[in-house]
This record gives sequence, structure tokens and C-alpha cells, in this order.
Amino acid sequence: MAVSVFEKFSTMRRDLAEWLIERDQEIDLVLTALIAQEHVLLVGPPGTAKSMLADAVVRWMDGNRFQVLLTKFTTPEEVFGPISLAGLKSDHYRRITDGKLPTADVAFVDEIFKASSAILNTMLTILNERRFDNDGERIDCPLQLCVAASNEWPGSNGDGKELGALFDRFVLRKHVRPIATERGLTRLLWGPQNLEPKLSTAISPEEIGEASFKASSLTWGVKAQDAFESIIRESKSEGIVPGDRRMKKAVAIGRAYAWLNGHTEVETDDLEILAHVLWDDPAEQPGKLAKIVGKIANPEGMKINSLLMEAEQIISGTDLKDLSATATACKKLGEVHTQLKGLSGVKASMAAEHVAAEVKRIRLATVEAL
Ligand SMILES: Nc1ncnc2c1ncn2[C@@H]1O[C@H](COP(=O)(O)OP(=O)(O)OP(=O)(O)O)[C@@H](O)[C@H]1O
Ligand SMILES: [Mg+2]
Repeated sequence: MAVSVFEKFSTMRRDLAEWLIERDQEIDLVLTALIAQEHVLLVGPPGTAKSMLADAVVRWMDGNRFQVLLTKFTTPEEVFGPISLAGLKSDHYRRITDGKLPTADVAFVDEIFKASSAILNTMLTILNERRFDNDGERIDCPLQLCVAASNEWPGSNGDGKELGALFDRFVLRKHVRPIATERGLTRLLWGPQNLEPKLSTAISPEEIGEASFKASSLTWGVKAQDAFESIIRESKSEGIVPGDRRMKKAVAIGRAYAWLNGHTEVETDDLEILAHVLWDDPAEQPGKLAKIVGKIANPEGMKINSLLMEAEQIISGTDLKDLSATATACKKLGEVHTQLKGLSGVKASMAAEHVAAEVKRIRLATVEAL
């Protein structure tokens, strides 16, 4: 039986989450960008699996792929294609674009902010308008998704202005952080040698087009609309004012994420994704916006996360060989467990189970240390 496009996206979401530790949000961001036909930017320190995720998504897609690692010496030829010698003979300055960005369905641009001015403007037109001017001939670019990565936000070394326009093209942007939990670290160190995620499906440009079309026809529920307006209002009062284009695009991103979540209309909890859309300045706004969005879009989820974080802090701050410290830790974890039990929903009960398992693990480790 043919697998539906929705099932393919769901399977990919699961496949990636199985291989990539603590990258659930980044995975959702990339898949949502693909559904919405927008671009995504991941910024974070070296070795945080940005390339691993981007490579996997590029590999998943059947169409023309293009990958490049930009340096300030990268030439336009490497990105847009070499000049045709045959064309030059008849006075044409035409590029052979096969296998390069103008003809790509999916692209991964690493170190994007290293782009020189010779590349910047042409790349902008491809990302934004899906258009490439080849010696006067207009080429329509099929680009469905560009994943870009960088170690730093633009502006951190005085290059902010020139790169501002490029930065704004990325509707979804996220700071990628190193693995934060002990459990994650254990998985990283002692889990399987995951050189690259194993993917159980592949997807064609046409299927992605179908996903985009289906997502774009979802409507927004009234509650979700109200929640969206509250997020905009509260953000404004905190000095976060995303441009009009960004706000309009956020509406489409909401639809794409709702579709990925299997919803038939946009629901309030789909708005969580907008924490990565509705800010402009990477210095302080993402954190502030995340709080506003969390409070409005998913108050329960936010409570669960903060309790889980508390549990993690208790665990990482405890010396398992110190009997009285472990006793105190288990007592505190017991309180966190009770609070989680008091919340409703599957996520809360899964979190409660996780904390209970941790208490068990600590008790066992203490006994073994005796
Ligand atoms: N969250 C994670 N889950 C699984 N593996 C990880 C994770 N973080 C790091 N790794 C491991 O570290 C390797 C390095 O990751 P990767 O090359 O994707 O980092 P990067 O963010 O692209 O770094 P750079 O900025 O230097 O390009 C991965 O191939 C993987 O083995
Ligand atoms: Mg990388």
C-alpha cells in the first residue's frame, strides 16, 4: 500500500528523533520549513549536530541537491555554476547551473554568513524570489528548502548591516545548544555509533508540493487566532516587534506546523513553533518570546518542562556516593513527581514516569556504591 505524504513526514520526524539527541525542536523546524516552503537557519557552537540534521533532510529528498560550505573566498562559480565557454564565444556570459543552487530543490548552505558580496545578492534573489538571472534569461528556481547553518549570529563582528537582509530571509531561526541533560550525554557517549541517521523513507519534490498544498488550505481555529494576537500584543509590550512580512509568514508557518502535527485546523498549541519566527534581534528577544509563546500556546507544556529541568538540576547536582545527599535528592525528586502527577495529559504522565525511573536509578546506584 502506498504510504501517504503525511505518514512519510511523521516517519521522518520519528527517524530523526531516534538518531539526534535533544534536537526535537530543530527537527520540527526543518520539517515545518519544508512544508511551508520557507528557509531555516540554525546557529550554534561547533559539534551540535547542525550538519547532521541538515545532511539527513537533504538525503531524504529525492530532487536536485546542493550543498556548500562558504568561506570568504568562495566564488560565484561554486554556488551558481561556471561560465559557459561556448556562450563566451558568442559574447554571452551564461552560467552552467546544473548541480548548483539555481537548479536545486534542496540546499544546505553551511557558514552562510561568510558569503561575500559577490554571492550575497544573487543568493538573496534565489532564496526569496526563487529566481536567477542567467545573462538576461530568467530561470525559475525550484528551491523548496534551504537549510543554513552558522556558528554565530550576523552582527557579532560588525557585519550586521550587510547580512541583515539575508538574515531576514530565514523565517525560522533557532539557536542550537549543546546537549543539556545527563541522559542525553549518556546516549551520545555510549549509544550506537550514529554516523548518520538511518532513514526509512524518501520523498519527492511532488510529494512535498502536495504537503505544502494541504497545509496551506488549513484554517485557523478561533482560539488559535486569539492566542496569536495575544502573542503579538505581549511581544510588543516587551519591545519585540517583528516586521509585517514576518507576522504574515508566521500565519503560514502555523498552518504548516499544524499539518505536521496531524491537526485539521491550526490549534493553540501549534503556535509554539512561532517562538522561532516572531523575533528580530537574536540578543535577548528569543528567550523573552519563548516565555510569552510558552505561556500562551502551551502553559501545561511549559510547566512540565520547567519541572523536568528542576529534576535534571537536582540529579546533576547530586553525588551518588554521598548517602545523605542522595536521600535529599530523592525526596526533592519525589516532590517534583507529585507535581507532575497532578497535571493532566500524556506528556505529564510520561514526564512523571521519567522522574520515577530516575529515582529508582539513583537508589540502585547508591546501593551499588555501598
Ligand atoms: N544532539 C546530537 N545527537 C546525536 N549526535 C550528536 C549530537 N550532537 C553532536 N553529535 C555528534 O557530533 C557530531 C558532530 O556534529 P555536526 O558535525 O553535525 O555538528 P555541527 O553543529 O555541524 O558543527 P559545526 O558547527 O562545526 O559544523 C555528529 O556527527 C554526531 O556524531
Ligand atoms: Mg557543520
